Amino acid sequence: MTEARDATPGDVPRHVAVIMDGNGRWAESRGLTRTAGHRAGTEAARAAVEHSLRRGVRALTLFAFSSENWSRPAEEVGVLMQLFVRALQREVGKLIENGVRLRFIGDRSRLAPQLCDGMRRAEARTAHNDRLDMFVAVSYGGRWDMLQAVRRLAEEAANGTIDPAAIAEDDFAARLALGDAPDPDLFIRTGGERRISNFLLWNLAYTELYFCDTLWPDFGPAEYDAAIASFGERERRFGRTSQQVRSG
Ligand code: IPE
Ligand code: IPE
Ligand code: MG
Repeated sequence: MTEARDATPGDVPRHVAVIMDGNGRWAESRGLTRTAGHRAGTEAARAAVEHSLRRGVRALTLFAFSSENWSRPAEEVGVLMQLFVRALQREVGKLIENGVRLRFIGDRSRLAPQLCDGMRRAEARTAHNDRLDMFVAVSYGGRWDMLQAVRRLAEEAANGTIDPAAIAEDDFAARLALGDAPDPDLFIRTGGERRISNFLLWNLAYTELYFCDTLWPDFGPAEYDAAIASFGERERRFGRTSQQVRSG
C-alpha cells in the first residue's frame, strides 16, 4: 500500500484526493447566495475531472459532502442534494465519453432514494471505463468508513470466514470505501483551512498534503498544475533515509 513505488519525485500523482472547500465564501464575497457558490463549485469539479484526464491522473477522489455537513441548515443541505441529482443527470454522458468510471463513497442510508437510484445507475453505466477512476464522497466521514470496515471484519470473524489473529492491514484496507484503489499520492485542500475534516483518515497516512487559499470555484487548471508541481518536488521517503531513497 504505502511503498516507494507508489510515485517517484517529478511524477504525476496517480491518485489525487481533494477537499473542495470555499464555495460559500466565494459566493459571499461576490454578494451571491451560497447556492450560487455551490453551483460554481460544480463547474470547478467538472474542470478538475477534465484536467485530471489531461495530466494522466488515474484516480480522483472529490469530497462533496461530509457526514458533518448534515448539520448545515436544512435548506442548504436540500440545495446540495438537488445539485447532486442534477449533476448526475447532466454529466454522466460526458463521463462515459471520456472513459471515466464513477463511484460514490459514503453512508447511503442517509440519502434520498431518488439520489441513490441515480448513483447506482451512473455507477453501472460507467463501470466498464478505465481511463480515470472517479470517486465522489457524499455523506462520507473517515470515522464512519473505518467503523463500517470494522463491522464487516467483526461479522466475518463471528461467522468464521476470517481468523481474527490473521487480520492484516490489507484486509482492513480492502473493506474501506475506497477498497482496492491505491492510496492517494496527493491531497489538495482549497479554501485556506489546514485540516482533514474527517476525510480519508486511513488512506491519507502517507499522502503528500497540499493546502492553498484559492476558493474552490476559482481552482482551475493553473492551480491544479501548481499542486502537481509541488508534489513533483517532494521526496517521499516512507520512513527511509534520503540516501536510501536516492539509491533506489
Ligand atoms: C465546500 O464549500 C462545499 C461543501 C462543504 C459542501 P463550503 O460550503 O464549505 O464553503 P465555505 O467554507 O463556507 O466557504
Ligand atoms: C469539508 O468542508 C467537507 C467538504 C468539502 C465536502 P467543510 O467546509 O465542511 O469543513 P469544515 O467544517 O470547515 O472543517
Ligand atoms: Mg467550508
